[in-house]
Amino acid sequence: MNNLGVIFDLDGVIVDTAKYHFLAWKSLADELGIAFTEAHNELLKGVSRERSLDILLDLGKVSLSDAKRQVVLEQKNKAYLNYITKMGPEEILAGVVQLLDRLDRLGIPYVLGSASKNASLILKQVHLLERFKGIVDGNSVSKAKPDPEVFLLGAKLLERIPEHCIVFEDAIAGIEAAKNAGMMAVGVGDKTILKAADYNVNNLTEINEGFFKAFISDQRTDTNESRLHKTR
Ligand code: G6P
Ligand code: MG
Repeated sequence: MNNLGVIFDLDGVIVDTAKYHFLAWKSLADELGIAFTEAHNELLKGVSRERSLDILLDLGKVSLSDAKRQVVLEQKNKAYLNYITKMGPEEILAGVVQLLDRLDRLGIPYVLGSASKNASLILKQVHLLERFKGIVDGNSVSKAKPDPEVFLLGAKLLERIPEHCIVFEDAIAGIEAAKNAGMMAVGVGDKTILKAADYNVNNLTEINEGFFKAFISDQRTDTNESRLHKTR
């Protein structure tokens, strides 16, 4: 028995949906006459759908009425769903299934903490939905990352205190949200971008057995900081 819990972001950690978001935003941008590149798409990672539209419109200096905004948001999501509904388990990122298997073996519960309103659908598509103890997604939160709400709700589902939660995130706003929640943040991706994380990996294959064991064995006595040093 241990007191640890894990919260996974979805997009960029479990699956790479950024490419589908890009294609869907790009087709809307073309229609609105806004130049939109893959570099611009980076700005939308971890950002809610509504906020993503604000960023896109700012790029093109375009303003839309509230009614038109709702129309284009629906249009973008429809285009995105066209890609998502074709996804399968082969799109799960490297190391994810092995990591979930390891957490099961260690008896560490895990939930999802994502800004996406499509999170459950995506997990279902890749046959992972049933494995999570709970889902916190864009439908259950009122404040977007870097607000800690999504992860604090995750801790509740895990029945763990924030200090005993480890968050896996690929976006700067997500790392900030985890730190704002008082949790341990593992940055998945470019460590020069995810500088604020407590620990960095390129992908989940780099998380080994020792990573969690160091936390479990020292949970009573050590601070998070000293535990992390042991895993390095
Ligand atoms: C994730 C992605 C963002 C996306 C957001 C909302 O955080 O990283 O790029 O904008 O979810 O996704 P949704 O599926 O609700 O449009
Ligand atoms: Mg992400």
